[in-house]
Amino acid sequence: MGFRKDFIWGAATASYQIEGGAFEDEKGLNIWDVFSHDNEKTFGGHVGDIACDHYHKIEEDVALMKEIGLKAYRFSVSWARILPDGTGKTNQKGIDFYNKLIDELIKNDIEPCLTVFHWDLPYELSKKGGWLNEESPIWFENYTKIIAENFSDRVKYFFTVNEPECFVGHGYYTGLHAPGIKLSGKELLQTVHNVLLAHGRSVKALRKFSKQPVKIGFVPCGSFNFPASDSADDIEAARKSYVALHKDWLMFDFPLWIDPVVLGKYPEQYLAEYKDILPSITDEDMEIISQPIDFLGLNVYFGNKIKAGENNEPEIVPFEQGYPMSALNWNIVPETMYWGTKFMYERYKLPIIISENGLSCRDSISVDSKVHDPQRADFLARYLKELKRSAEDGTEILGYFHWSLMDNFEWAEGFKERFGLIYVDYSSQKRIIKNSAYFYKDIINSNGEIL
Ligand code: GAL
Repeated sequence: MGFRKDFIWGAATASYQIEGGAFEDEKGLNIWDVFSHDNEKTFGGHVGDIACDHYHKIEEDVALMKEIGLKAYRFSVSWARILPDGTGKTNQKGIDFYNKLIDELIKNDIEPCLTVFHWDLPYELSKKGGWLNEESPIWFENYTKIIAENFSDRVKYFFTVNEPECFVGHGYYTGLHAPGIKLSGKELLQTVHNVLLAHGRSVKALRKFSKQPVKIGFVPCGSFNFPASDSADDIEAARKSYVALHKDWLMFDFPLWIDPVVLGKYPEQYLAEYKDILPSITDEDMEIISQPIDFLGLNVYFGNKIKAGENNEPEIVPFEQGYPMSALNWNIVPETMYWGTKFMYERYKLPIIISENGLSCRDSISVDSKVHDPQRADFLARYLKELKRSAEDGTEILGYFHWSLMDNFEWAEGFKERFGLIYVDYSSQKRIIKNSAYFYKDIINSNGEIL
């Protein structure tokens, strides 16, 4: 019992958040290069030009992963680093960078796991409308082909798009993230459809051009709700909340994104309620979008407590005063791991990889020169116990990636938030492995038995 023998223990990052080297070696600009420089759109006007300078620190960073005992590392490729204009001419220096990273990982027995897109769309493509442009699925297919041709001889695990909810929801709806646009409802639904088509075309390209059989997943995020009590009614209400669609929150609702990809159809309620502003959706589109995938990647950060309200409909139970929180004021809700994975597995019947989970703490270097982060260690223990409980109940869980390997550029929050297992002093670029990472190492070494 417990976690499977070949459980994938890892940590994750994303290109713009750690790489730096924003203007080096003929890399093209991406939307975050531009957005972060645009009038204080990020906390304190922070920009990711240098970030963790990972671009120049591959050996050092992989050595730290080894020291933590990671079995796998999930990173993303910067589209504009390998295709400066997003389409057309490739940049060999960009490809060389990822080859070097992948080789170094393999040399250290760390499984490289590649996210094709983690939000840093090439600026040249954004100028053409970005994901609103109906050509965008083709751009993404061609970009994926380059990834498959260059890296799939050594990379077996691929994640297509990371959190479409966020890069569409915040990039094109709330405007909080790059490119910071607020589209009309009709344009927004076209954008959703384009991103789903892009995912499907990416899966097809990976299957067609990969040099070995590969495992492919899609990475949604959202509110991983859990029942307020053990009563059958509350459990049923929590289950129901995973399929609900909300008017003001539609972009962040699971079924809008996962149903088309896994079940091959948009939710009926969506098709009915938005029929006047839907884009053209053909059978061929749905066939592309619902290409078989191998696992569902889940980024688990928060969830609501749900009880059965009027007519047994899901009702949010407010968290009690003083409920534990992270530095970003996200409630600490380990139950999300048990119930989130269980409900997702029941509905979509795909093996699950926790592709991200973690918290931001106000970490600092102590007088003893170490970084003590008991809240993160406790978080790891609580969330992983619940994940293990889910595995023991029969949910097929293949792996867990902690977010993040190291402190990094937390999008609109800049460098204020520290999510890492490794502390980064941005002025000296010195890294310090935090105490929680050594605890994670013990968990990994025991395959979760010490939990
Ligand atoms: C996710 C995102 C990551 C990271 C994390 C912590 O939504 O994929 O890039 O920022 O949240 O907020």
